[in-house]
Amino acid sequence: MPPSEPTEAFVWIWLPGSLHPVVAGVLEQRGVMFAFEYAQSYLARPDRIALYIPELPLEPGAIFPLVGEVAGCLRDAGPDSWGQRVIENRLVGNGRLPANGLGLLTSLLESASDRIGALDFQASPFDYIVRATGKATLNELSEVATYVEAGEPLPPALDEALLQATLIGGARPKAVLDDNDRQLIAKFSSSSDSYPVVKAEFVAMELARRARLDVASVEITSALGKDVLLVERFDRRTDGTRRAMVSALTILGLDPHTEGWYATYPDLADQIRSRFTEPENSLRELFSRVTFSILVSNTDDHARNHAAFWDGSMLTLTPAYDLTPSRRSGGEATQAMAIGRDGYKLSQLVGCVERASEFLLSKAEARAIIDHQIDVIRANWEDTCDLGRLSRVERESMWERQFINPFALFDY
Ligand SMILES: Nc1ncnc2c1ncn2[C@@H]1O[C@H](COP(=O)(O)OP(=O)(O)OP(=O)(O)O)[C@@H](O)[C@H]1O
Ligand SMILES: [Mg+2]
Repeated sequence: MPPSEPTEAFVWIWLPGSLHPVVAGVLEQRGVMFAFEYAQSYLARPDRIALYIPELPLEPGAIFPLVGEVAGCLRDAGPDSWGQRVIENRLVGNGRLPANGLGLLTSLLESASDRIGALDFQASPFDYIVRATGKATLNELSEVATYVEAGEPLPPALDEALLQATLIGGARPKAVLDDNDRQLIAKFSSSSDSYPVVKAEFVAMELARRARLDVASVEITSALGKDVLLVERFDRRTDGTRRAMVSALTILGLDPHTEGWYATYPDLADQIRSRFTEPENSLRELFSRVTFSILVSNTDDHARNHAAFWDGSMLTLTPAYDLTPSRRSGGEATQAMAIGRDGYKLSQLVGCVERASEFLLSKAEARAIIDHQIDVIRANWEDTCDLGRLSRVERESMWERQFINPFALFDY
């Protein structure tokens, strides 16, 4: 008989600076909602931090989500559409898929422990058991991605590698990987890609670094004939401690099912002004990310593609990630999050300059940022494409389409 969905999961946290997790509380299903309750032992700790404010203040008793069915900071720590596909594959393979399909608590408890941020989910409040050790090779992970995409159950020998692909958000095939003392996210090309997505993401991320954006470091490699982007994780420190993180969707307090569409940059800018360390630098950085995204057709800049570290009281913008040029046929394009309070979304630099004051920048400062980005992209294009192993045809198909599309520069 297939198992039934569990009714609770214990939330463990790596407190700032700590190498070992402690139990923070329990997440319980209550009807269609999930309530979180801090453990008495956690509330009594002098070094306790709230998992996130305003969602989960440090107080006794069950706390229901402010929006949606579960607190955003807990949802952020769970697997997204890719991770859920992998878990389903694994549970079907070993006959353990719950009768009603994959519920939230199963997906939290069946994903690996080395998840993004500083939280993990466990069946017990007493014993912490690590799920997946990060030892699978890139070739094994690439093989896993192929099986999962094809919807075929995996050979048992790949089970540990499969677990390593369960723990991470986002829609595209990916896994986490330990490489000596570096911790990486491997993003694989997919059989459904209609252009070289991984190479294009490499080029965009590398150009962003050269344009002085604060961005996760990347390199490109291949495994079993697939392109693989290796992204250095910024939620792990080399001393083994972890950094708590929340998505911009959570910071904006939006319900992912019904309100994600309403996330805007000016609302995020308001949060940065009131709750972030280094607000002025962060606003400048955010503006630079918007304009750079427009220059490289990263139009999938939704509110889970921005995030901040959380230390219990303040937020700090994370490095940029997932700068992925989208396929362009014609000129006109829009960003996922509105750039202006007027709802302006067009992927055009002139519109950004007009709204620069939202980011506490003058028009002249905004233009200086954009001009520098255009110069860097032009000057580094060939070299970055060489590093990304793009063929002549691939670069020509992207230049002035994904990269520096004339629509972006219109009237600028
Ligand atoms: N370098 C990094 N360090 C730590 N966490 C990261 C890093 N890069 C991405 N993440 C986290 O992993 C999640 C998935 O990564 P990413 O957005 O790159 O995947 P994706 O599948 O391309 O996403 P999407 O669904 O937006 O297309 C992000 O939402 C973020 O929480
Ligand atoms: Mg993403």
